[in-house]
Amino acid sequence: MFLDGATVGFDTVNNKAVFIDQTLLPTEYKEISTDDFSEMFDAIKMLKVRGAPAIGVFTAISLAVLMNKSKADTYENLMVELKGYCEKLILCRPTAVNLKWAAEEMLKVAESSNTEKFKENLTNKALKMIEDDIAICRKIGENGVELLKNCNSILTHCNAGRLATVKYGTALAPIYVAKENGHNLKVFADETRPLLQGARLTAFELCQADIDTTVICDNMASFVMKNGLVDAVLVGCDRVALNGDIANKIGTSGVAILAKYYNIPFYVCMPFSTFDKNIKTGVDIEIEMRDGSEIGEMWYEKSMLPQNAKTLNPAFDVTDHSLITAFITEKGVITPSEIKDYI
Ligand code: MRU
Repeated sequence: MFLDGATVGFDTVNNKAVFIDQTLLPTEYKEISTDDFSEMFDAIKMLKVRGAPAIGVFTAISLAVLMNKSKADTYENLMVELKGYCEKLILCRPTAVNLKWAAEEMLKVAESSNTEKFKENLTNKALKMIEDDIAICRKIGENGVELLKNCNSILTHCNAGRLATVKYGTALAPIYVAKENGHNLKVFADETRPLLQGARLTAFELCQADIDTTVICDNMASFVMKNGLVDAVLVGCDRVALNGDIANKIGTSGVAILAKYYNIPFYVCMPFSTFDKNIKTGVDIEIEMRDGSEIGEMWYEKSMLPQNAKTLNPAFDVTDHSLITAFITEKGVITPSEIKDYI
């Protein structure tokens, strides 16, 4: 296996982007190696690679792989080709800002390169982004662990674990670091309809790490909170606005409202690559809308909806900054109002 515990990787010997097909988990673990643009696009679109940081790093690797095999022989033509790939990939998933961020980082490197160094520089940048993501997530884990020292049990929504990054994760990183320190936290994983990232992915990786995991349906969060079974909520995010509003997996805002009601701290774990300084508030965040078949058909032998029933399938929602206790970042633990001071 090439990935050796990572979620995405860069096979520089064979010039391939490598990823785990997460749509097959938890029943099948399959690594896919590719240098094909449509396969890369499909991997992101169909959530084979998903989670904001993993999407960002995978985009950088994909761009490096694609440009390494380019036949263009002038700087101008290399740039035209790279920009073309970036433009298409950015449209793939509009809410997770890491995708756009990664493409822009690669473009910056290309802009300061020449024809001779073009490919080598992009390869080195993608490799650096892999390393940086691992270090940043580790730091989020270390910065968050202190906040959890008096907690027994955490609730999380969607998957913001190692499968959503290169390693460690964001929201699950403090739980992994706590375990290394001998503090075994219990985790409630919301199943996270409609694509079940909580049930399939969070439960998979936590159980693999021997962490006490209980999967609940999304509508059971109030039950466990009311009964005193949750000491803190940890979630990831796909985009953060200047005022501290966040977009994360659909259902996150409901969890935040419940946490506020039951007086449970609600922490958002975020690498700064998820911060969008061009967006003032969450109202400006574009929400990805997905096919309704994910609601009625995807997990069932036959459609479970009557024929004329309509569906609405927003992939993300916006949580108001007033509901967020703090952000756990690689730069430290900060409140929503402090965020803009860190850029
Ligand atoms: O649609 P997904 O599975 O890509 O959504 C993922 C999430 O909402 C995560 O919480 C977010 O990307 C943060 S991952 C560290």
